[in-house]
Amino acid sequence: MTVGIDDIAVYVPKLFISTAGEFAASRGIEPAKLMKGIGVEKMSIPDAHEDAATMAANAVLELMKRSDTRPKDVGKIYLGTESAVDEAKAMGTYVIGMLEKVYGRGSFEECSTVEFKSACIGASYALESVAEWVGSRARSGSASAGEGDDRIGIVVASDVARYELGSSGEYTQGAGSVAMLVKKAPKLVALDGAIGSFTRDENDFFRPLGKRVAVVNGKHSNNCYLSAVDGAFASFKRRAQKMGLFNLNANQEESVLDRLSYILFHIPYPRMTEYAAISLFRREWKDLPKWKEVIGEIGPEPSMDMFSSPEDYGKADVAYNKKFSKSKSFTEAFRSKVEPTTFFSRQVGNIYTGSMYLGLSSLIEQDLLHAGDNVCFCSYGSGCSALVFSGTVQKGLKSLKPGNVQRKLYDRKELSLKDYEDLHEGRRPGSILPYSGEFALTGIDSQGYRRYDYVS
Ligand code: CAA
Repeated sequence: MTVGIDDIAVYVPKLFISTAGEFAASRGIEPAKLMKGIGVEKMSIPDAHEDAATMAANAVLELMKRSDTRPKDVGKIYLGTESAVDEAKAMGTYVIGMLEKVYGRGSFEECSTVEFKSACIGASYALESVAEWVGSRARSGSASAGEGDDRIGIVVASDVARYELGSSGEYTQGAGSVAMLVKKAPKLVALDGAIGSFTRDENDFFRPLGKRVAVVNGKHSNNCYLSAVDGAFASFKRRAQKMGLFNLNANQEESVLDRLSYILFHIPYPRMTEYAAISLFRREWKDLPKWKEVIGEIGPEPSMDMFSSPEDYGKADVAYNKKFSKSKSFTEAFRSKVEPTTFFSRQVGNIYTGSMYLGLSSLIEQDLLHAGDNVCFCSYGSGCSALVFSGTVQKGLKSLKPGNVQRKLYDRKELSLKDYEDLHEGRRPGSILPYSGEFALTGIDSQGYRRYDYVS
């Protein structure tokens, strides 16, 4: 019995700002830094009637329509977000309220919902939980025993990534939502079951109560990401080995990374996936016979005893990373296993907890996934924690209806710098675009309760 992701839908706002041009000029940054050094060409920006709840509801509605899912089929809608619209009320209740405007009042009454907050890893914890729920019921045979509870789960990731205007985080913003159907015998990716984790208290990135934008210690956040993902990957390998996945014991010539078709990292900005891959591949390859080829090309790694201070060793190590990033073995592995996962992120920016799953959708729409491919998910959330797990692509992928994400991105409208800044600061009296066929925030009452509607 397999459990995993059956289908996936992506929602992105219809507005964007290009990082090159007016934006780069006004911030005094060379466009090449943003396009290549960071890897973001466009950032999706929510209109005045949008928030993380409307984006989530739009993604779920598309997912349900495309997969012919009815409200009574859905037992759980678990939502990963760090863009909460309320300190107490679960965002999923607003989402259910919106969905009921389409499917009828009370149609989701038996569906439970909870918000998972753990920065950019929230949706992965939601997926772990929903997959466990689906799997435990299937194992106990409750559904097959005819008790009528054969319901599926939905995991939604929805976020608005927002930093201070003019800050170094500003060019890593974005917004969007990814909804995934989780069920047994999934059409898309069956989860293998091994999960590696890592958690440590850090101040790399957080948003204290009442603040609209995140506090971020940029370079420190990169380092936390790398050590958390490395730690979770080591934990994943131990568990995968115990389960006999990838036949690791039988083969000492390769690392598990070589057995993977694709590695999906959390994508705060595309360049970060390269830093993460450098760190993982260097660590995983250096005890293998193939490392001799790398040394032949770029020389041996620096070691601590060659330097008089830890600072000098650190600098030499960073320089070695750069050389390794240009080595033949690494560039081949990176180009085939990681780079294609960033295809949409270059056009959308950071969508926090959905960004790794946007990577999955990048692979699907480029037609790169094939039945039997091994996909590894390396999820990171500031604060900080990481989860690493793997899945196998299923034959049913071919029968999925198209997600048309490329079309949606192509149809977006470009914002002027002024309109972008006004939206960012909440200074727009109304929306930039007229809206129809979507959920919209129509007002906030005197108590702070948010009114949403489906505008047909
Ligand atoms: N042409 C090409 N490349 C250029 C260039 C040019 N003209 N000018 C600079 N670059 C390169 C730099 O050399 C550098 O590349 P290398 O690392 O290979 O040297 C790259 O562009 C980035 O430039 P900086 O090192 O100067 O980085 P920055 O000061 O602009 O900050 C950042 C980058 C720290 C990510 C910042 O944007 C930030 O704080 N972002 C928000 C936090 C974040 O995303 N952190 C990621 C980890 S935390 C996480 O993942 C959770 C989350 O979603 C937030």
